[in-house]
Amino acid sequence: MERFDKAAEKCAEKVRHSGECLVVSHIDADGLTAAGVTCLALQRLGKAYDVRFLKKLDGAALEDIADRAGRRLVIFTDLGSGAIDQIRELGIDAIVTDHHQPKPGDYPYHINPHLAGLNGATEISGAGVAFLLAMKLGPNADLSTLAIVGAVGDLQDLRTNALVGVNREILELGTAGGYLSYEKDLRLFGRQTRPVYKLLQYSSDPYLPGLSGNEGACIAFLENAGIPIKKDNWRRWIDLARDEKTRAISRLFQHCLACGMPARKVQRLIGEVYTLTKEEPGTELRDASEYSTLLNATARYEYSDIGLAVCMGDRDEAYHTARDLLDVHRRNLVNGLNLVSDRGVIRLANIQYFDAKDAIRETIVGIIAGMSTSLDCVTRDLPIIGLATSGQGVKVSARGNHDLVVRGLNLARAISEAAAAVGGTGGGHDVAAGATIPAGREPEFLALLDRKIGEQINGKA
Ligand code: C5P
Ligand code: ZN
Repeated sequence: MERFDKAAEKCAEKVRHSGECLVVSHIDADGLTAAGVTCLALQRLGKAYDVRFLKKLDGAALEDIADRAGRRLVIFTDLGSGAIDQIRELGIDAIVTDHHQPKPGDYPYHINPHLAGLNGATEISGAGVAFLLAMKLGPNADLSTLAIVGAVGDLQDLRTNALVGVNREILELGTAGGYLSYEKDLRLFGRQTRPVYKLLQYSSDPYLPGLSGNEGACIAFLENAGIPIKKDNWRRWIDLARDEKTRAISRLFQHCLACGMPARKVQRLIGEVYTLTKEEPGTELRDASEYSTLLNATARYEYSDIGLAVCMGDRDEAYHTARDLLDVHRRNLVNGLNLVSDRGVIRLANIQYFDAKDAIRETIVGIIAGMSTSLDCVTRDLPIIGLATSGQGVKVSARGNHDLVVRGLNLARAISEAAAAVGGTGGGHDVAAGATIPAGREPEFLALLDRKIGEQINGKA
């Protein structure tokens, strides 16, 4: 964390001397937690602030912010690094705390891991960068919880099944303060809140052969392992005794191996899980992964204010609304995955893609593209691209994996160049990126993207 000291101290100084602030953030779990960290830090300083959430930071959005900001200090969180030049040109008095690949441009009030030689896709999230600033503004170590939820929400732990880099330093800091704990455990979604059999039934990443999607098989599997699925209530993973958990895991390993699942994939069923120790057991908020999904269920449906309220401590009305939204979100994810699975994907030389048009909401097409790698029709040797109709044209979301990045894949660069060539804008990370392009330009864009990605991963045109 020390390597950010100079930039973070400079930004903190600016905040201390500012009047009212305007926090501008991104509508996903990382953006919400980043805004939550920043707003709580400002609140504790007694600063007045206002918040705006954006799907993306394009020219129109920037001009709107310049108009609204007035004399206020604008704090960009989880976005802004791609727009340093425009921020300067528009004369916005700003601090940028972000982890996306920065476009060239010098700015003194800019905290970004790439400027420190770190990887913004794995080593620190937008919420983590916001946390670095918050730590300079006061005793805000408790906000490490939100930084970890943001990192998990951005899937920064996906590659190694554990948080690394600055994320790990933040985790240790939060653990030392008694706000967080971590352990190796089953990495299926819903450990805190779902009946155990549903954990198996709804597991799509990884897809559990013979179990995923089959309620009866999941119940039988647990009964055969001598694990009662119900006592007074449905038993959740957290309700199981240690020996029951061990037995369930070892049976699950045996089952998956016997079904021909590669050992490497079976190993990935186990990984580090992150607990927010001050939250009520059995709620989404107790588990970093479930918490981040709860937040996505608000922000991706234009209810960012609800998600932000939860981040800032609301456990009443906003929390209950968020849980209702989560039901809708889960249904949409299942429907979206079914759609991809039914229609299949189209393979070009160096990418595979699906075009959902308006059958998938543009705000969740990225999540579905990411989850679709567990489907049989999607292979891991090429990045997957999802397209969906957007108010401003066509939303594109691209997801790769570590093996492809090692071969040279940089989705942020490929997608921003291909989008720019057809009159759109894009950006992101090497392993996950997005863009919006004008309607009707999809074939040209996909052909360009295919060629650029080919150049990256094959080293030739
Ligand atoms: O929107 P999606 O989930 O596909 O975005 C993947 C990553 O790319 C995110 O980190 C997002 O902030 C970034 N992105 C971007 N510019 C865009 C679209 C997405 O930097 N126009
Ligand atoms: Zn982010």
